[in-house]
Amino acid sequence: MITRAATKKQKTAVKKTAKTAKKKLKKPALTAKSKLYAELATQLRALLEGEFDFIANVSNFAALLATSLPDVNWAGFYFLHGGELVLGPFQGKPACVRIPLGKGVCGVAAAQAETIIVPNVHEFPGHIVCDVASNSEIVVPLFDGEQVLGVLDLDSKLVGRFDDQDAEGLNELATIFVAHEEHLEV
Ligand code: SME
Repeated sequence: MITRAATKKQKTAVKKTAKTAKKKLKKPALTAKSKLYAELATQLRALLEGEFDFIANVSNFAALLATSLPDVNWAGFYFLHGGELVLGPFQGKPACVRIPLGKGVCGVAAAQAETIIVPNVHEFPGHIVCDVASNSEIVVPLFDGEQVLGVLDLDSKLVGRFDDQDAEGLNELATIFVAHEEHLEV
């Protein structure tokens, strides 16, 4: 503990100790995947900066994901309109336009307001096929507070392509995106 009477030297010594302590408590090195998502967060912020056209921003967000994430054959959005999900901007093969809430991976993720990782889509009851080449999928809801606005959907030809790190990274990107559209700082 440092008293008011502590000398400059003592104060500097404490700062040094604090720095050393910080170093020791340093988190483990970032994995390649978390580094990639950190870069994508920077790139997404740069793409959105100063632009508030919704279609333009969603389109660029989909393109960023499709061109940056390895082994992804479909990346895009569905938005809730009149109680059903309607296809938004995406990259990949043409997809089904309307998905009722509770149907398919997207409809279940939107209805339950939670991220769903499907390691093998052929084992998911009610999975809706858009690209027959897809074998795994992740769906991340977009939130305005507690309310679901729509979902971000990614497909891969690889079985088990998506994991918790993808869920975390994609949720962070979705939060950055929605906050920007609502003109909030994140
Ligand atoms: N597979 C999704 C449908 C959308 S496509 O994958 C683009 C689902 O089951 O909801």
